[in-house]
Amino acid sequence: GSLNRRQVMAGLGVALTGLAAPRGASAALPTMALAAAPDEMIFSGVPARTRTLAYNGMIPGPIIRVRQGEALAVRFVNKLDKPSAVHWHGLRIANAMDGAAGLTQPPVQPGESFYYRFQPPDAGTFWYHPHIHGDTARQQDAGLYGVLIVDEEEPVSVDQDLVLVIDDWSLGPDGQILPPAPADAMHAGRIGSRITINTVDDEYITLAPNERIRLRLVNVANSRIARLALAGFTGTIVAIDGHPVDTPFVPNNGRLDLPPGGRADIVVDGPPAEGAEAGIAINNNGEVVMLVHLVPSKGPAKRPVPLPPFVLARSSLPAVLALQRAKRVPLVMEGGPRMGVDGTMQHAMGMGGSVWTLNGKSSDGHGGPPLFSVKRGSLVDLGLVNKTIFAHAIHVHGHAMRILHPFDDEWQPYWVDTVTVADGETVHTAFIADNPGKWMIHCHMVEHQESGMATWFEVT
Ligand code: C2O
Ligand code: CU
Repeated sequence: GSLNRRQVMAGLGVALTGLAAPRGASAALPTMALAAAPDEMIFSGVPARTRTLAYNGMIPGPIIRVRQGEALAVRFVNKLDKPSAVHWHGLRIANAMDGAAGLTQPPVQPGESFYYRFQPPDAGTFWYHPHIHGDTARQQDAGLYGVLIVDEEEPVSVDQDLVLVIDDWSLGPDGQILPPAPADAMHAGRIGSRITINTVDDEYITLAPNERIRLRLVNVANSRIARLALAGFTGTIVAIDGHPVDTPFVPNNGRLDLPPGGRADIVVDGPPAEGAEAGIAINNNGEVVMLVHLVPSKGPAKRPVPLPPFVLARSSLPAVLALQRAKRVPLVMEGGPRMGVDGTMQHAMGMGGSVWTLNGKSSDGHGGPPLFSVKRGSLVDLGLVNKTIFAHAIHVHGHAMRILHPFDDEWQPYWVDTVTVADGETVHTAFIADNPGKWMIHCHMVEHQESGMATWFEVT
């Protein structure tokens, strides 16, 4: 079972060599088994064991590690009592392996398994989680998620390579995960009051002089936008949503917001200054909590001289988007409560499961026609128009997009797969639809996704 673990998840990667090869002459690829099953966990200060769901008995699930361009084979075994499927979030892999049950594959029924086999084209920090309409929120919330690291073809040297998984939990007084509340879906989604990092309350990382560490932050919370602050040290963002940023940068005032599903790779050249408190803090509803403590180590310096700049190889994504020729697709978010003239929230009547819409339609799975269909290689300008009174985090499968600046033809100097759109705002994104198949677009606030805010597009 996944009991409370204190260590930062370094070195827990499942090396793909040495795993049992599947029987059968055609399958030369080592295959790892990934089983989703009921489990339990101990939270500090909670008297009872909390019933969870876990991959291979761990929360987060095993770190799956593969080298860029190399193939990976995972046999997913569903030991839950509900159908499931595994989505490889952010990976630009073949459509049939995307794991969006109902769209790219049939649901994997209890007791059944599904063989995923793919070759990640991009190095970086990715993750995996269930993707099954009607039950994603419950399964992911209960602990089904894990990190997938694609190592650079040319290895990048750091002294510590650490995975930091942020989640939040809604626990009842009995220590059990609270059942889904319809109000969560109608508002900001489920925001658990207990925030954890690798399932514990906080992590301690020690840094020697001239030591260089790579932190891979992953926000797996169902709906929380992780509002982070890098405090007391200089953290350089080298990758966002897996892909290297154009030029590494230090965020303004140390502020970093990660939407649900979002990742950031941060390089820290240590140690932090003695005395001052250094680390990564999160704003939990106004209360600022230290999630990661960076502690100067008393040990000797790692190197006699300061480190050279950290450089990640550029990604294989195109650098220039010819926006004039883009196909313009508006995606209008509506639904949920409204603000009444008296300043109070007004709830629409008779909301069943469908409270949110995209372009006027509320999804109840993946039936119906695609939102749009484009030829392979087309440039798409996706205009995300948020007419609701809540923020949303729009995620596009199988592609990476640029966020365009509102008033000129510039864009943010990095790629994303999930974009936060604040209430009342419009954000334009652009991407090259170069991956054939059927791909989902949805709000990654999973409660919103499950209550209508989902659609799909096709690349032919
Ligand atoms: Cu990370 Cu469609 O999801
Ligand atoms: Cu949303």
